[in-house]
Amino acid sequence: MSCFEITGGRRLSGSLAIHGAKNSVLPILAACLLVPGQCVLHNCPDLSDVSATLDILRLLGCRADREGDTVTIDARALSRFDVPEYLMREMRSSVTFLGALLARLGEAELFYPGGCELGPRPIDLHLSALRALGAEILEEQGALVCRRCRKGFQGREICLSVPSVGATENAMLAACGCPGVTTVVGAAQEPEIVDLQGFLCAAGAQVSGAGTPTVTIRGDAPLHPAEYAVMGDRIAAATYLCGCAAAGGEVEVTGLAPDTLTAVLACLEEAGCTLHTGPDRIVLASTAPMKGISPVRTAPYPGFPTDAQAILMAALAGGEGATLFVENIFDSRYRHVDELRRMGADIQVAGRAAMVSGVGRLHGAPVRSTDLRGGAALVTAALGAEGITQVSGLRHIKRGYQGLDKNLRALGADIRELP
Ligand code: EPZ
Repeated sequence: MSCFEITGGRRLSGSLAIHGAKNSVLPILAACLLVPGQCVLHNCPDLSDVSATLDILRLLGCRADREGDTVTIDARALSRFDVPEYLMREMRSSVTFLGALLARLGEAELFYPGGCELGPRPIDLHLSALRALGAEILEEQGALVCRRCRKGFQGREICLSVPSVGATENAMLAACGCPGVTTVVGAAQEPEIVDLQGFLCAAGAQVSGAGTPTVTIRGDAPLHPAEYAVMGDRIAAATYLCGCAAAGGEVEVTGLAPDTLTAVLACLEEAGCTLHTGPDRIVLASTAPMKGISPVRTAPYPGFPTDAQAILMAALAGGEGATLFVENIFDSRYRHVDELRRMGADIQVAGRAAMVSGVGRLHGAPVRSTDLRGGAALVTAALGAEGITQVSGLRHIKRGYQGLDKNLRALGADIRELP
């Protein structure tokens, strides 16, 4: 089984341009279905989740071509509304094809999506949002058969009981195909939602309010081909910054707005790192072991992002002092803890809480990725650990990180992929 082999203890230095955001480009690719023409997306990362999404678009009848980090989607020849289970299972974001197909074709036949195993990942909020717009959705043995209620598909107010990122995205996409005005109340405020709005508006949709708890969509606006640059991946940026915090050194990440990572940067600064930011860059310097910090509670944006929880935990586990984590978003997002313990980490878990006691320095060990961010956390820990770590389960990591080993090598890390 292939793995990353990392010899820890090398200080990192240099500058890295961050690739496009996985959690932004995936719903934007689904949104391309709404446009009966050719859309051009720049800064599109080369990730396995993106490849799977392009496969779905092609299967539905679209053209999807990549040239470097530019992807061109032509949805004029869209001819199908059914996505097979094996493609739906590839990732969580496949569920946004529900809203996109309903908006464009008025019907969809999908299956429950896949995604990282972080505990239950229901889609009840997605379905209730689409039903509120008039969609008729039958759930049959994991299949979702959706027919737009011709007479009743109408924009209206949708209230989300949880600021679900995916449900907000699905509602925005479906509402673009609804006559009238749709208001999503209790919407997720993540920067990726703002990016989706940016793309939709570039294609002529009338969407506003993204980044606030209320998003308004005036449906049925005629859409036209758009060219759009995807935002930088803030979680990938957090990963490289935490890697530098763990290993020591000075690293600059470019291509993202620092205010999309405020909560993470505050933790790194409290842990003793020095941070400087510019409009599209963040520089982190780490010259001493990370200190324990005040409790880290994951929350919807602008709170601390759950996707950075494992990564920051890995950096702190090799530092000094204690930090309490509380994972409030997902029920089972501590699966990386057992693997960190193999590296000598002292972490006590009780329900949603995890108490990390820095041990001064972790030691290398063979460890296995349990999910995307858990795998990134193991790489982060290995960078600062004593000795050699082998991280297997690379398929998880490659879903969300483009060239993680190559980028870290360019920053001075001793990391290579073994077949
Ligand atoms: C998105 O997942 C991201 N994935 C996740 O990133 C991220 O962790 C999550 O948002 C939270 O920020 C993509 O964008 C592809 P949610 P999503 O709906 O949309 C509950 C990564 O590592 N919920 O905001 O699935 C749910 O169980 C991935 O890149 C319902 O109860 O997250 C969770 O507790 C992991 N019913 C909470 O809401 C629903 O219908 C937030 O989930 C939907 C969600």
